[in-house]
Amino acid sequence: MQPVEIVKDLWWVGAVDWNNRDFHGYMLAPAGTTYNAFLLKDDVTVLFDTVKEGFGEEMLCSIARLTGGKGIDWLVVNHVEPDHAGALPQMIEALKPKKVICSPMGEKAIKTYFSCADWPLQVQADGTSLSTGKRTLIFLETRMLHWPDNMATYIPEDRVLVSSDAFGQNWATAERFADQVDEHDLERHLRTYFANIVLPYAEIARKVMCRVDEACRDVEYILPDHGLMYRGRKWIEWVNEKYQGYVEQKTRNKAVIAYDTMWHSTESMAMAIAEGLVEEGIEIRMMSVKANHHSAIMAELMDAKAFLVGSPTHNNGMLPFVAGLLRYVGGLKPKGKLAAAFGSYGWSGEAVKHIEEALTGMKMEIAAPGMRLINRPNHAQLKACKEFGQTVGKAILAANG
Ligand code: FEO
Repeated sequence: MQPVEIVKDLWWVGAVDWNNRDFHGYMLAPAGTTYNAFLLKDDVTVLFDTVKEGFGEEMLCSIARLTGGKGIDWLVVNHVEPDHAGALPQMIEALKPKKVICSPMGEKAIKTYFSCADWPLQVQADGTSLSTGKRTLIFLETRMLHWPDNMATYIPEDRVLVSSDAFGQNWATAERFADQVDEHDLERHLRTYFANIVLPYAEIARKVMCRVDEACRDVEYILPDHGLMYRGRKWIEWVNEKYQGYVEQKTRNKAVIAYDTMWHSTESMAMAIAEGLVEEGIEIRMMSVKANHHSAIMAELMDAKAFLVGSPTHNNGMLPFVAGLLRYVGGLKPKGKLAAAFGSYGWSGEAVKHIEEALTGMKMEIAAPGMRLINRPNHAQLKACKEFGQTVGKAILAANG
């Protein structure tokens, strides 16, 4: 893609990865992603971040258009994860920066990711700044958002925050700014990204937001490392408000029913439970773990009040996709959820107990004791499943007021 000028002399020079579906190696990116990088042409020329390996040539072309092939003075590494630093060795080789600027933790990460003995590394402590001539770069550590090395860079003269992983979304588009795309689609991608990447660090995100708020009064532009950029106070407030809701883990009267099934008995239970929830006025998401990637389930779970998980018993436990989902969700540490387990069994029937243990291990509150039944549900049992759904539905309404 062509460079895009954001403010005078500050350009987007990243890459659009239209066909990426496997983001960071564990998350589905159904609409692709972008690797955002930025070039500032002041008295010194500064490149902020790079792109994933394989996109370096494209990025070098964009930079050459703006510099006439002259190289750069400084390269700021806000984040060392390989989708932003994969092309770093190629950039250093081609553009010969006099400084490669990073956070203290960034230095450690760079030294363990790359052969960098001859790189001109310069570590900037949190809150320190450098002048590029007419502008100032203020470096703000954003540790654990979402790696220890993350930092953001603020340019007060232009009111621009290069925010790294914070405020990103996975969405490959020809448009570069939030105000050019559909707001609801943008919110869905923002929420999905937060749920799967930022959620375990929600408390850190809250502190970082306060910090950024103090340090970056009246920010007019937020430039994340992935997806659309935000320009104008309306969009800055929009994204801040969304993040506030995510950080507080606000929920709706909504339940995610995630299940696997062998001969459709557990699936029939899920359907009957769903009916009970719907009867109580609860919005539901029926999500077979075979038909839905764990990151898609997590994206739906983030604003749901209840998580209902079903599996038949197989070899004295739950089915493996259900176990994988529970491991994944547990790692993301969602807070304030109600939960319930269900499943059919043929003879031993341990799955429901194991699911309940996993859910309580995540500090979820069990809204109804686990429901299990042998082989195939009969009419009376399906009625009981519906009542089980109603019980969970009432608990959701009571909890959400
Ligand atoms: Fe896409 Fe933490 O980086």
